[in-house]
Amino acid sequence: MKQKIAALFQQVHGREPAVITRAPGRIEFIGNHTDYNGGTVLGASIDRGVWVAIAPREDGQRNFYSLFTCKMETLDAAVSVKQVGEASWINYPLGVIAALPAFGLHVPHGFDYVAMSDLPTGAGLSSSAAIELASGLAFLAITGQQADRETLVKIGKHAENHFVGVPCGILDQGVSGFGKADSLVFIDCRGPRFDTVPLPADAHFWIFNTHTKHALVDGLYAARHRECMEAAKALGVSLLVEATPAKVEGAKGSLSADAYKRAKHVVEEIGRVDEAVKVLEKGDLPAVGTLLTASHRSSQHLFGNSTEELDFLVDTLAGEANVYGARLTGGGFGGAVMALTNAAFDDAQAQVVADAYARKYGARPDVLHMRTGDGAQRL
Ligand code: GLA
Repeated sequence: MKQKIAALFQQVHGREPAVITRAPGRIEFIGNHTDYNGGTVLGASIDRGVWVAIAPREDGQRNFYSLFTCKMETLDAAVSVKQVGEASWINYPLGVIAALPAFGLHVPHGFDYVAMSDLPTGAGLSSSAAIELASGLAFLAITGQQADRETLVKIGKHAENHFVGVPCGILDQGVSGFGKADSLVFIDCRGPRFDTVPLPADAHFWIFNTHTKHALVDGLYAARHRECMEAAKALGVSLLVEATPAKVEGAKGSLSADAYKRAKHVVEEIGRVDEAVKVLEKGDLPAVGTLLTASHRSSQHLFGNSTEELDFLVDTLAGEANVYGARLTGGGFGGAVMALTNAAFDDAQAQVVADAYARKYGARPDVLHMRTGDGAQRL
């Protein structure tokens, strides 16, 4: 990929890139919608991601090219308005540039830029965080500035929250930034505090991407965020992480039915993440799998962010041999299911699950056997 992006850069900009960076996508392992509630979450950085090649320009022109659109977009350095339509992918690097001053960093002037990715789109593997972190590293490099990993992660989140306009938590950027092969990233989102947890050798990830996406997915994510904040307020805490399961039960009568369900999901899900860390340390993958499937059931019945298609995949996978557990991964409302399996689960078995899905829904999910990989880096 490094040679490929260097060759592409040469082809579209007629010169060599000065810097090449890469940041991985991520699998949300467990901790569904816990991050912006101040909770804990576990994620895996994967061996697929986004590459960015860049070289500075003196004339203040910013030339963006990507293999997402195969089109050059030229902006003046003074322009930082949100792009719409086909060019909207540029909002990720533009959002990163707009975030830099908030961290005491200066913005790059002109540059030639190329981005490419080997992440499947719409699979909930967070290509947006990957492009933010790869771009952040690239901009820092061409301006001769240094920032630690935590700052890079926060810059990416700031871009997403304030420029792109999604009220996400720190999961996606945190995992892309702190990822390590053969490990999971643990984030205590209140600090935030980042750590890694070794992944037992027999743990395999399979992604089933349904390619379904609720038309209102961004609005629904924002709605869940708002509902959680309202539930926290009704419980007299600033974030749901400060509420206990007992407190939520005690307040059941005074909360709306939805607020109760959202709060119950979040506080119990935080408990499952902490339990998952403990059983992972013991290498007890069956116990981890049970927690993963319980997480899905909670998303399905309490948080209300699953879909019929995702439930069907989880139900089918739960009945398969060699599967420890399965759950929706990411924001929900469509997207993908992740299964944690042992090494004996193979492509033939995955295709049996895909066949069952295709018979019911008339479309085949993509099946991807994912490996873990390292976090964002300059190459
Ligand atoms: C998306 C967001 C994350 C997180 C998950 C749900 O991936 O970007 O911050 O909230 O949804 O857990």
